Amino acid sequence: MRSLLAVFALLAAVPVAAQQARPSETAASPDGRVVLTVSTDNDERPIWSLSRKGKLLIAPSSLGFLLADGPALQRGFRIDGAERGQGDATWELPWGERRFVRDHHNELLVRFRQHESRGGHVMHVRFRLFDDGIGFRYELPEQPTMKTARIADEVTEFDIASPGTAWWITGGEWNRYEQIYQKTPIDGVATAHTPITMRLDDGTHLAFHEAALVDYSAMWLKRAEGRKFRATLSPSSDGPRVVRDLPFATPWRTIRIADDAAGLVASDLELNLNEPNKLGDVSWVKPMKYIGIWWGMIRGPWSWGEGANHGATTARAKQYIDFAAKHGFGGVLVEGWNTGWNGGLFNFTKPAADFDLKAVTDYARKKGVTLIGHHETNGHVANYEAQLDDAMKLYGRLGVASVKTGYVADAGGIIAPGDTPGTTRREWHDGQWQVRHHQRVVDTAAKYRITINAHEPVKDTGLRRTYPNWITREGARGMEYNSWSAFANGGPDHEPTLVYTRMLSGPMDYTPGVLSLAGSNEVPMASTLAKQLGLYLAIYSPVQMAADRIENLAKYPRELAFIGQVPTDWAESRLIAGAVGDYAIFARKDRASADWYVGGVNDGAARTLTLRFDFLDAGKNYTATIWKDGEGATYLTDARHRIAYETIRVKKGDSYKLWLAPGGGAAMRLHPGK
Ligand code: NOJ
Ligand code: CA
Repeated sequence: MRSLLAVFALLAAVPVAAQQARPSETAASPDGRVVLTVSTDNDERPIWSLSRKGKLLIAPSSLGFLLADGPALQRGFRIDGAERGQGDATWELPWGERRFVRDHHNELLVRFRQHESRGGHVMHVRFRLFDDGIGFRYELPEQPTMKTARIADEVTEFDIASPGTAWWITGGEWNRYEQIYQKTPIDGVATAHTPITMRLDDGTHLAFHEAALVDYSAMWLKRAEGRKFRATLSPSSDGPRVVRDLPFATPWRTIRIADDAAGLVASDLELNLNEPNKLGDVSWVKPMKYIGIWWGMIRGPWSWGEGANHGATTARAKQYIDFAAKHGFGGVLVEGWNTGWNGGLFNFTKPAADFDLKAVTDYARKKGVTLIGHHETNGHVANYEAQLDDAMKLYGRLGVASVKTGYVADAGGIIAPGDTPGTTRREWHDGQWQVRHHQRVVDTAAKYRITINAHEPVKDTGLRRTYPNWITREGARGMEYNSWSAFANGGPDHEPTLVYTRMLSGPMDYTPGVLSLAGSNEVPMASTLAKQLGLYLAIYSPVQMAADRIENLAKYPRELAFIGQVPTDWAESRLIAGAVGDYAIFARKDRASADWYVGGVNDGAARTLTLRFDFLDAGKNYTATIWKDGEGATYLTDARHRIAYETIRVKKGDSYKLWLAPGGGAAMRLHPGK
């Protein structure tokens, strides 16, 4: 892949002295626009750089590791050979934002060898270049000098060549990923979780993340100086942040690269870097919408624990099942169904005295609805793991299709089993130990044909491709915060920020559909009524909740009708209008019909968009049913409830003027024919 362009980029990216003295390898994306150069610097450190369309994007940046028990894999290296490859295949997602994914890439594997005096180790780096980004991972092959890698940290660098704006949350904070996004210049970032999204001053959009986080600690990005970032791994109670026997490969370090926000959202980079489905037939993994005995606890007055206000009673569960069956919901989540909420340890097989698990699941089955199980651990994973198989077996026997897990504990507060029986130690939500724990849960659940929706999870890195039963997760500030105080998610730009940051990693159980627009003590939400519907199109999840209590949902029959119809599994999805942090409007095509849906969310500034129906099938006339912000609607006052409805006829090529209120949104269903 030594195109002329690649050679020019190499000349631009590498200092003159190094050009003459040091061998280098280059590779380009299939369209030739993204060009990688791999080399070593004057300190014999492995380095890489990247350009796009002839412009430097990542200045020469280091590769390697610090080891806890020996010389670092950082200096004294030379290139000892390279291999090239390519791939172009289209594969199918069993469920998702789109049905078919194209994996078109060029590959470069560079073998680095270290001088004997520096440790004598061998380190391979495999790069994959796509038209929409790059991924690379380290591979440590079997070698006489090392049996086990005790990784103190990674020294992988990303030196961003030009200035711009970053949207990010802080890595290593007590509240995990449940933070309000910060928007700063790139050189104002501290330590960030990934995905971190950037818009360079020339308009190029970047998102840094990782793919296939398996048996390893999550990568945070720490700004070292200027615009140079360095990977740092989530800690471990053991000292080294990762311990792995050789041979092994790390997760892929990824950068999505696009001309605009839509290009960023359209990329399947991380999915393409994950292994194919390992579960075989996953027809039992079913996307669905659900309601739950949940918001009544989040906003009160119900309680999770047994007592006068206990939410999870048999009678209430049956009432919710009836409502679900009537309004097109496939599942009912019941939290607080088990014992342990009033102190002590959770028991994952013992129902509360006023909750008859068998009667409820029998009733649900009769009504064609599934119970969604709940395993809150409060971070006591040692207690959960001891019961894991029994807990999943019980749900499996009762036909429970999906389980929401939960890890409410401060970051670093996961209670893991210690080295000897009866002892425990503390781990991080995104450290190697907890990454392995999630794997055990997903594997065990798969045995009983159960899907997992993890809250307070590790971030998503595309593992749903390999384990399609890991169907969704939280991993950001969700709707629940809106209940606890007014505008507690930082205001209406939270969701149009999530779309371009957190959502790049995968589905989120955001739990939209609080149609009453009110939390505890009637605190108002930074949302109009139409925005609650727009969220179903903006924030993708294959299991998607209507979060409000059913008494409230019933008060809004026209909105409930939309929620009943909107699919959770798509043939196609594209962002048709949007800007990071400002607004996001998607067009999505149903997988099960010829219907299209259009809609999304706005920030705090009113705006009028001209939407073009270019995506519709040619030659068809569609009936568009529209739910949109009513005149004068604003999230700031009671006018947040103002909604307007419209039905029009549209065809491919038509356009539509859509007004979005401050904190507003919209949703429409486009159905061929009448
Ligand atoms: C926090 C989760 O985000 C929420 O959905 C859940 O209800 C509570 N933990 C209790 O498990
Ligand atoms: Ca949470």
